[in-house]
Amino acid sequence: MDISPNRYILSLNRGALVLSLLLLNSIFSQQAAGFGDARREYMKVQVRKMFYHAYENYMTYAFPHDELKPLTGTFTDSLSELGNLKLEHLPQNYQGSALTLIESLSSLVVLGNNTEFEKGVLWLAKNLTFDVDARVNLFECNIRVLGGLLSAHILATDSKNRLEEGIYQNQLLHLAEDLGSRFLLAFDTPTGLPYAWVNLKYGVMENETAETSTSGCGSMILEMGTLSR
Ligand SMILES: *[C@@H]1O[C@H](CO)[C@@H](O)[C@H](O)[C@H]1NC(C)=O
Ligand SMILES: *[C@@H]1O[C@H](CO)[C@@H](O)[C@H](O)[C@H]1NC(C)=O
Ligand SMILES: *[C@@H]1O[C@H](CO)[C@@H](O)[C@H](O)[C@H]1NC(C)=O
Repeated sequence: MDISPNRYILSLNRGALVLSLLLLNSIFSQQAAGFGDARREYMKVQVRKMFYHAYENYMTYAFPHDELKPLTGTFTDSLSELGNLKLEHLPQNYQGSALTLIESLSSLVVLGNNTEFEKGVLWLAKNLTFDVDARVNLFECNIRVLGGLLSAHILATDSKNRLEEGIYQNQLLHLAEDLGSRFLLAFDTPTGLPYAWVNLKYGVMENETAETSTSGCGSMILEMGTLSR
């Protein structure tokens, strides 16, 4: 895939992103000023509590499956259900990809829990595989799995996060590259716009729908562009 025009678009997107973040930041700091220190401290503790409530229950009752079902305390392997409202072509043998763990990695770093982050990174490095017979929604799998792996990779290679010396050998980047290569099969179309669905093991199904959406085919650029870089 020729990525040079994509790089240009990515840099435009990033410019817009930085501007929005600056704007949000100024809105939040104005609001936070009204909060007062005690209230801010209280909110911080609440956010931590909410995160660990969700994370620890997922790890106890659902991991390494994809998601916790909170009322029954059981799990669902939901990657191939995401965006699949009619639950078409669900795989029979798919055992999950630890989806919630992948999505939690960056939060662990933000909360300063490097021990748990390292444990998660090593588990995924050893155990995660995308060679599974699962038809996934390209957009959902891109933002959640590819995006999760790439941001965790960037955080793991940031010296501030001090993983144990030598323990991180770009394993998450290799997993991301493997996943990205599987995505590429969806782009083999007359227009170059990708199919909305791809089977991770076998590529696009023969009778796959050509229906897609603006975000589904137009917003792959952030993660795929980051992976290319
Ligand atoms: C990190 O996460 C683990 C698992 O939820 C928890 O047991 C531990 O207390 C956390 N450590 C810190 C420093 O918050
Ligand atoms: C891989 O998964 C198995 C089963 O959950 C676990 O026992 C093992 O510790 C995992 N590997 C790593 C490096 O975490
Ligand atoms: C589409 O093709 C798959 C095999 O690739 C088959 O299992 C499925 O039944 C087909 N669906 C329709 C609607 O033809």
